[in-house]
Amino acid sequence: MTDNAPAPDWAYAELDGLMARGAAFFGSRYALMGGAMSWVSERHLVAALSNAGAFGVIACGAMEPPRLAEEIAGTQALTSKPFGVNLITMHPRLDQLVDVCLAAHVGHIVFAGGIPPGSAIKKAKEGGAKVVCFAPALVLAKRLVRSGADALVIEGSEAGGHIGPVSLNVLAQEILPHMTDVPVFVAGGIGRGEAILSYLEMGAAGAQLGTRFVCATECIAHPAFKQAFIRGNARDAMPTVQLDDAFQVIPVRALQNAGTKRFLEFQAETIRRFRAGEVEKDVAQLDIEHYWAGALRRAVIDGDVENGSLMAGQSVGMVTKEQPAAEIIKELVDQAAMAIAARRRNAA
Ligand SMILES: Cc1cc2nc3c(=O)[nH]c(=O)nc-3n(C[C@H](O)[C@H](O)[C@H](O)COP(=O)(O)O)c2cc1C
Repeated sequence: MTDNAPAPDWAYAELDGLMARGAAFFGSRYALMGGAMSWVSERHLVAALSNAGAFGVIACGAMEPPRLAEEIAGTQALTSKPFGVNLITMHPRLDQLVDVCLAAHVGHIVFAGGIPPGSAIKKAKEGGAKVVCFAPALVLAKRLVRSGADALVIEGSEAGGHIGPVSLNVLAQEILPHMTDVPVFVAGGIGRGEAILSYLEMGAAGAQLGTRFVCATECIAHPAFKQAFIRGNARDAMPTVQLDDAFQVIPVRALQNAGTKRFLEFQAETIRRFRAGEVEKDVAQLDIEHYWAGALRRAVIDGDVENGSLMAGQSVGMVTKEQPAAEIIKELVDQAAMAIAARRRNAA
């Protein structure tokens, strides 16, 4: 069977069975989440993914409440299918952002960037939304479910953007067998349907992909940003390097460019100034933290792929062209179904 030949109907039916719990949780055709990507996951990509049968998620990022309300309304104008909103837990107006989601009848709120306060989970649930949280370890997964999380995402260090230290391969083994009470979605480095299938077979309810959707035709990212993804290989998507234990750098996986090289020099120079007594430690730490401020927007929106941040997962090597969201979803589903069919053939 070639990559293009359709799999038999029974293989799609088997895949539907494996995705049933995750798809029912989202109310979508497939248990495939569009991972929220700041600046990238706005109304056009989110609606395109939901219209294609996946579950699109708006990245709220640093948006203020009125701007988020606008984005939700804009998305609702482009799709009648369900979609979610991803809120960063350290946003100073987290509570108001939850209110905005509830007022707009958003069915699913994804809390990212840390363990959400119990009050935010409670508010979201009392307002009728389902709550999805990121679990970086088994103990935290259990704690989040006790606090009311209706589903979890486990995101491996292969992912694009801010990352933890552990690969999805290991997180999946540590968490999936023990977390059966709620649906668990896997993320990080997933670029093909065969991988989705194997995680479903391990007990995942579905998968969240980010990088693979950046080059969707509907995605508003600058053509230069998309081109960098099309050219990029897995080995180009590297975590940020921390030069000195005393000056913390939050790891972010991104394609290497002039900006990432200069970041090393900037850290070295800032640390030198601190050691020479020219600058206080907290000021030096803040300088390092602020280096990347606005850098993702510069790359995604302005197309400055040399100095901006090209956040991308290791799956970037599997992004080879710009194509409609529906075509990407179909490819992933076909690959998974074909893998099911191939196994049956091999076993016969
Ligand atoms: C450009 C970019 C921006 C991202 N921004 C966010 C974000 O704002 N919030 C979030 O929870 N995750 C963010 N992520 C992570 C994705 O939601 C998703 O979990 C990740 O892309 C999955 O790994 P993959 O890229 O290998 O598919 C971002 C990822 C990328 C590539």
